[in-house]
Amino acid sequence: MYQIGEKITFTLFGKSHGPCVGGILSGIPSGFSIDMDMVAAEMELRKPTGKIGTPRREKDDVEFIQGVRDGITDGNPILMRIANGNTDGSKYMKFYETPRPGHADLPALLKFPDHDLRGSGQFSGRLTAAIVAAGAIAKQYIAEEGIRVEAFTRSVGNVRDDCVRDADAAHASRGFATRACTRELDDAMRTEIESAGAEKDSVGGVVECIITGLPIGFGGIWFDALDSDLARAMFGIPACKGVEFGDGFDLTRMRGSESNDAYRYDQGRIVTESNHMGGIVGGMCDGAPVVFRVAFKPTPSIGVEQRTVNLRTEEDDTVSVEGRHDPCIVPRAVAVVEAMAALTVADQMMRGYRWN
Ligand SMILES: Cc1cc2nc3c(=O)[nH]c(=O)nc-3n(C[C@H](O)[C@H](O)[C@H](O)COP(=O)(O)O)c2cc1C
Repeated sequence: MYQIGEKITFTLFGKSHGPCVGGILSGIPSGFSIDMDMVAAEMELRKPTGKIGTPRREKDDVEFIQGVRDGITDGNPILMRIANGNTDGSKYMKFYETPRPGHADLPALLKFPDHDLRGSGQFSGRLTAAIVAAGAIAKQYIAEEGIRVEAFTRSVGNVRDDCVRDADAAHASRGFATRACTRELDDAMRTEIESAGAEKDSVGGVVECIITGLPIGFGGIWFDALDSDLARAMFGIPACKGVEFGDGFDLTRMRGSESNDAYRYDQGRIVTESNHMGGIVGGMCDGAPVVFRVAFKPTPSIGVEQRTVNLRTEEDDTVSVEGRHDPCIVPRAVAVVEAMAALTVADQMMRGYRWN
């Protein structure tokens, strides 16, 4: 089991081809009413669609085993279970001998002698279903404080959205399979994913997340900084290879006079005139929306033949991957990024990081 958070904790369990995946969400006070339709709607957003997602299709109904009665939390840890129905491990057997480059096979096989490679075991993106279920509850919990988390696909392969997007635009991405913000970008990203898939290859991309409603001063400092916690949460998502806040790495090419976000009063409220910092300074919110981007690598399982080693013969070998894989993880990862961000904010809220 794998855990994150201090006051609102989330524990993840399960594996791809076991009976279920699930999670335990602790710290939500009793008497909180959960909108189950909203949970189901969030689960839909993580599901694969058309040719841009894996052919493995699951129902993803969330079963609340304990901690919730008649839709109301009872103060106990919330135990959620999502059944694995569509399992076929046959295509994974050869990876015991010839581990897939880019996936966890090699270190996992050497580290865990009993590692179950079917569906990639506990390294499967399948476990993110439980993250999205818990995140849906966290989202509802922080929404009571006026806090909102929205994400969208900023880029897929070489197709990039170059417009500044706000939380409403990000929300509108729910209408498009790739989670792009417009029909044109959705078409272009879909073509990019489908052409990689047609060549038995894969592409990566970038998810951008926007958090609004956080008061100035929300967050912690040093190792409890809001950006530090968010980055840790994002790097827990499989295939995440980078996180940047605001202008991120581009800040290194600016002068301080360009990168600092100037303050001014707007009808008695302090506002920033720009948002190069992504809404966080000193680990705390500066009043601007928190904006960060998460880089996802191309899906490691591809049909293209790749060089690897043969662990049985101890010689060099090759491997190609058949079976059911996402040619691009990014559209499905958008819901996961939102969920991890909501869990992080809920935890920081409960740790008392609203004002100090
Ligand atoms: C929603 C989601 C779906 C994923 N689907 C696949 C997949 O179909 N095939 C695959 O090889 N990797 C998939 N991954 C990525 C792997 O789980 C990940 O690359 C692997 O565990 C190695 O971890 P790392 O990339 O973080 O180093 C998926 C990841 C996510 C977040």
